[in-house]
Amino acid sequence: MSENRGAPEGADASKPNSARMFDYLLGGKDNYEIDRMAVHAMLAVAPDTRTLAWFSRQFLLKAVQIAAESGVRQFIDLGAGIPTSPAVHEVAQKVDSSARVVSIDFDPVVQVHATAMLSGIPGVTPMLADARKPDDIIARLRADRLIDFDRPVAVLMVGLLHFVMDEEHPAEIVARFREVMAPGSYLAFTHGGDESDPAFIQQTVKDTGGSTAHPVYRSRAEVASFFEGFEMLGPGVVPLQEWLGGDLPHTGLVLLGGICRTPTARKD
Ligand SMILES: C[S@@+](CC[C@H](N)C(=O)[O-])C[C@H]1O[C@@H](n2cnc3c(N)ncnc32)[C@H](O)[C@@H]1O
Repeated sequence: MSENRGAPEGADASKPNSARMFDYLLGGKDNYEIDRMAVHAMLAVAPDTRTLAWFSRQFLLKAVQIAAESGVRQFIDLGAGIPTSPAVHEVAQKVDSSARVVSIDFDPVVQVHATAMLSGIPGVTPMLADARKPDDIIARLRADRLIDFDRPVAVLMVGLLHFVMDEEHPAEIVARFREVMAPGSYLAFTHGGDESDPAFIQQTVKDTGGSTAHPVYRSRAEVASFFEGFEMLGPGVVPLQEWLGGDLPHTGLVLLGGICRTPTARKD
């Protein structure tokens, strides 16, 4: 496809890409025709998906605010996506300008944009890494002295785990991080729910086969089971609208969200 000309190295403009689709949903310009087509196919089935993308960002920023206000000063944003504003570091550094954010994504396109837009911001480090290899990530964060795991940390998995298939062991990825997180740490997540509109599920699964945007929709109980060993806060694993409060509309895609905390005494 012609859009691959001049595209960042590693970009594949022939398949939809979750980072670029999300960018388009949020009104960004870092996306290709194939992404826009996939998004419009989604919007044809569930026109409220753009609204939900905005709810998702609000939930992410709310979680950062909660963690920062409770004293967390280091954030690991897994599946961070193409940078947009307001950003994780903007919320965290408003609470304390010394807050640090490591912004991790496995997509080389995201890395190009993140390097261009985030490098040079004090305390913010973009990193190209795969969340399905938590041991590698933890080792790099330690070796580069980016995160002090003896202190509370907030791990953000917003819009990530529904791209991790069962055979890639999502619960084990979460558990690996939980094991190294100090007492007083937070983990916030969202996940596509199997209670979403069946037409939406069918459409998105069909349109994204073989691409990084291919999702798996899970039940509330299954999603909650990934976070065993944490203390679940607030309303638990519920549609994001419940976390955000007010009288927000139901959406065809149901994004489940949760914020949890490490128990006060660490179990090693
Ligand atoms: C829907 S976007 C969410 C972006 C951001 N977290 C937000 O909520 O605004 C999902 C992101 O997860 C990234 N991603 C998916 N699987 C990943 C993996 N195994 N490791 C790292 N990043 C991944 C994609 O590249 C994409 O940028």
